[in-house]
Amino acid sequence: KNIVILISGRGSNMEAVVRALDAEGWPARIAAVISNKPEAGGLAFAQARGIPTAVVPSKSFATRAEFDAKLQETIDVFEPDLVVLAGFMRILTAPFVEHYAGRMLNIHPSLLPLFPGLHTHQQALDAGCTEHGATVHFVTAELDHGPAVLQARIPVLPGDTEATLATRLLVEEHKLYPRAVRLFVEDRLVVENGAVRIVEPGFDAISI
Ligand code: GRF
Repeated sequence: KNIVILISGRGSNMEAVVRALDAEGWPARIAAVISNKPEAGGLAFAQARGIPTAVVPSKSFATRAEFDAKLQETIDVFEPDLVVLAGFMRILTAPFVEHYAGRMLNIHPSLLPLFPGLHTHQQALDAGCTEHGATVHFVTAELDHGPAVLQARIPVLPGDTEATLATRLLVEEHKLYPRAVRLFVEDRLVVENGAVRIVEPGFDAISI
């Protein structure tokens, strides 16, 4: 399977997926890493591993529709079976999301449906949560919604700040996202009635 990963910054989740794929030998390859920011730190990691990279600078486009059209064209050169959003900080238009329906995943640093949007760690603290987490989900037109694939949970500890929560959660994200992407490339995710079912390896999901 061809995977295209979209990043905007550091790219540590992208790196975790690339490393897991290499270490575990998934039936997949990283076809490209694409950023909307030329200065994204993750681009250097991808280039060093010989992964093709591209930049579609969101700043250069007047409208979301024009940016998304160019992004889609750039992604589709690599014929992706799966598009992985890894810290890709853009709100996507409905036609773009529709084009990748059922084949685009995102990781969001909250226990969705709690706290969509930004500042999720602070939101969890402000709400007095005793538990926080991250969610990998299929991308649908509504921001940070869509069927959840896997979640990771961490306790909120006395004295936790936005920064300590983010740091502890990131460790879990780096395990969670590779697990979810692997399930996808092994054809083990079935979306039914807006929910994800994980099937056994080798199970023929189409026969039911
Ligand atoms: C992660 O916390 C991810 O959940 C969120 O943005 C951050 C990206 O970090 N969407 P990185 O670029 O993968 O290091």
